[in-house]
Amino acid sequence: MKRLVFLIASLLVMANAYAANRSIEIIPKPASVKVVAGSFVITADTPIVVESDDLASAAGIFAEEMKTYVGKSLTITNANRRKAIRLALSASLKEEEYSLNIGKSGIAISGGSPRAVFYGLQSLKQLVVAGQHMGKGVKLPAVAIDDEPFFGYRGAMLDVCRHIFSVDDIKKYIDILALHKINRFHWHLTDDQGWRIEIKRYPELSRIGAMRKETIIGRYRHSAEYDGKPYGGIFTQEEVREIVKYAADRYIDVIPEIEMPGHGVAALSTYPWLGCSGGPYEVRTTWGISEEVFCAGKESTFEFLENVLAEVIELFPYEYIHIGGDECPKKAWKTCALCQKRIAGEGLKDEAELQSYFMERIERWLNAHGRRIIGWDEILQGGITKSATIMSWRGTKGGIAAAKLGNKVIMAPNSHCYIDYYQTSNTAANGEPLANGRKPVTVAKLYSLDPYAGLNDEEQRYIMGVQVNLWTEYIADFDHVQHMLLPRLAALAEVGWSYDRRDYDDFKARLGALRRVYDRNGYKYAPYIFNGIE
Ligand code: ACM
Ligand code: ZN
Repeated sequence: MKRLVFLIASLLVMANAYAANRSIEIIPKPASVKVVAGSFVITADTPIVVESDDLASAAGIFAEEMKTYVGKSLTITNANRRKAIRLALSASLKEEEYSLNIGKSGIAISGGSPRAVFYGLQSLKQLVVAGQHMGKGVKLPAVAIDDEPFFGYRGAMLDVCRHIFSVDDIKKYIDILALHKINRFHWHLTDDQGWRIEIKRYPELSRIGAMRKETIIGRYRHSAEYDGKPYGGIFTQEEVREIVKYAADRYIDVIPEIEMPGHGVAALSTYPWLGCSGGPYEVRTTWGISEEVFCAGKESTFEFLENVLAEVIELFPYEYIHIGGDECPKKAWKTCALCQKRIAGEGLKDEAELQSYFMERIERWLNAHGRRIIGWDEILQGGITKSATIMSWRGTKGGIAAAKLGNKVIMAPNSHCYIDYYQTSNTAANGEPLANGRKPVTVAKLYSLDPYAGLNDEEQRYIMGVQVNLWTEYIADFDHVQHMLLPRLAALAEVGWSYDRRDYDDFKARLGALRRVYDRNGYKYAPYIFNGIE
């Protein structure tokens, strides 16, 4: 009899644990989840009570999102109401830390800031989708969640130069980032194949720099075929403002990237005096790297870039501006009298130091205007200032070197974080569209990223976080963007938010719940991992 009681008790514990595991499936994994007795049903009549006006915007977005689950948008009030979703700020919580409590009398989310409350609502949204959907509402299990991110920087980059996407597409990209608690949107706005941000002082950028005559068909270096169709577009300053505001409402800081001294052919084609030879140049119709770069010898180059940045900083309130710095061939500088004069005049050793001069001069200008810079890891060549932040993309070695120098680092190694790369090993059998990358970045590969590898405790302090990069040479429409982004973004989100509590098998088990959120939103994710393929 005793054994029978023990057996039944054990089964009950197991069933409870099962219920707990099955019902609380949040990505990225929260720091602490305690399932408790009871449940709460959200209906169309459940009000959202905001205890601070600062929370009205986050409440409004959530209230709208609930429409598809309970039939109408929830009402928002600051009056005290029973059986409500209560949102509050708490001085005892850290800036991005929140608690989410679901009990039979209602739901309470507290956060150290409105941003943190927004994260609590993202977790709640995942629980709503996973909840028990009944005729008039959604039943949620009672739970106590305490949560905060491991890394402060969790980013995603989108290249809109190789292909451009609509304002609505960019907003959808931002929605997807928000769902995953990503807090930085790195917007790659200028490159050889197109200039994509309106600059009032240089209107010809919108007419010439934003357009290319045609686009290569198929793989770069393997194809000689072009489509013969003019391609281009620009984001007006009004549209940029709209996007920055949309992101801010979702607690995402937008980091614009204005590329220099390489990847500038769209600008050089518009104003040939920006290059060493004086042109003519043509907005690039194929991919890869151009030897034509901004002339580092002419004062007019710096004047142009500073005038561009003066408009950029008016549009983007976040303190960081990305100034590129990658893949700048030095051939043009070697034969340019003005660049050579600059090297001699400034007492520089070579063209690598000339690049440092270039980046440092722009950094000084931005610092004087209250901003800080991020650059790709090439900016380490020739030396960097203490204040530059390095984005490590050619593996993690640049990031490791920078952290050892005491510079801040964002880890985005191509081996793990380049989601323009294939995402499955068996591309032919899986019918995967043309992509970059010699080795695939599978979900598992991305999940295995250790941004601290090779660093001691002291050096680890310089790692701000992680980012995925989505270059769009082979991605011409937004369904394809989503296919490359999802579900790999979920893996990045978990590395960034839950680094110290990662568990791949557990992640895969939770991914099914996130997939239902993708389905409810109509997101076009890649199916492989859900079909047991990596
Ligand atoms: C890069 O992928 N060229 C930063
Ligand atoms: Zn030059």
